[in-house]
Amino acid sequence: MEDRKKLIEEQDKKIREKMSKVKHKIAVISGKGGVGKSTVTVNLAMAFALKGYSVGILDADIHGPSIPKMLGLKGRRLQVSKNNEIIPVFGPMNIRVVSMDFLLQSDEEPVIWRGPLKMSALRQLLVEVEWGELDYLLIDLPPGTGDEPLSVAQLLPDMDGVIIVTIPSEVSENVVKKSVKFAELLKMRVLGIIENMSYLTCPKCGERIEVFNSGAGRKIAEAFGIPMLGEIPLDPKISKEADSGMPFVVDFGSTTSKAFDEIVNKIEKTLNG
Ligand SMILES: Nc1ncnc2c1ncn2[C@@H]1O[C@H](COP(=O)(O)OP(=O)(O)OP(=O)(O)O)[C@@H](O)[C@H]1O
Ligand SMILES: [Mg+2]
Repeated sequence: MEDRKKLIEEQDKKIREKMSKVKHKIAVISGKGGVGKSTVTVNLAMAFALKGYSVGILDADIHGPSIPKMLGLKGRRLQVSKNNEIIPVFGPMNIRVVSMDFLLQSDEEPVIWRGPLKMSALRQLLVEVEWGELDYLLIDLPPGTGDEPLSVAQLLPDMDGVIIVTIPSEVSENVVKKSVKFAELLKMRVLGIIENMSYLTCPKCGERIEVFNSGAGRKIAEAFGIPMLGEIPLDPKISKEADSGMPFVVDFGSTTSKAFDEIVNKIEKTLNG
């Protein structure tokens, strides 16, 4: 027992050392799955990278790692350096990616690790990975606000805060409350809410079409005193690009691309004063 405690302490120390080279660490969370958390993560990463920042993504979604596919990195593997450190996989715009997906043999192989084993695998990864100097590390946490995302987030020291991704129909006080509570438990600041699939843009005239109860996110953000970071439209191109492995943000000038840019500018201002 004593040995185990010592090992954990040593690992925590190493993780802290590694993470001290990362200027900003932001976790992306959502009240529930399928709201576009991973999509938002890769597009924010890309938008930061296009501004000249060095960016990393930790895909900490153990059961459904989807970042590699979205960045066209399926089938790639983590490499070990001469100093026996794990090197992240380099994606578009040199975005450094670490994902459990890079450790799996094949897509068909299910991740059947039980809780403790899963956490120690992730912990070990964090100890061994050499990210290098990074401006921003975005962490795609497992969906929801339960035990698993909480344990994963607790592995990471000195986080700048969390971003809550939500969709209009799901923007209920309850979901936001749960996410805020999650951040409180972790003693993390809520950097803001992103409402994904917020509205449609007419492909012919560019007019904004409110499909769901748009604007609800903004109201709730105000009620909770949380910054509203932005609204991302429901854009068929987003999922097409995700399948092709190139984040949508590169579609310069589109409403969706601008929405991500504005969010990144806000985060930048919040964190750098
Ligand atoms: N703004 C959007 N417009 C159109 N499609 C979108 C948008 N955001 C996400 N999607 C699509 O919705 C699906 C779910 O997105 P994504 O995988 O990012 O969600 P998630 O919250 O990470 O899900 P999970 O809980 O499984 O991790 C994907 O097919 C994605 O391409
Ligand atoms: Mg996901």
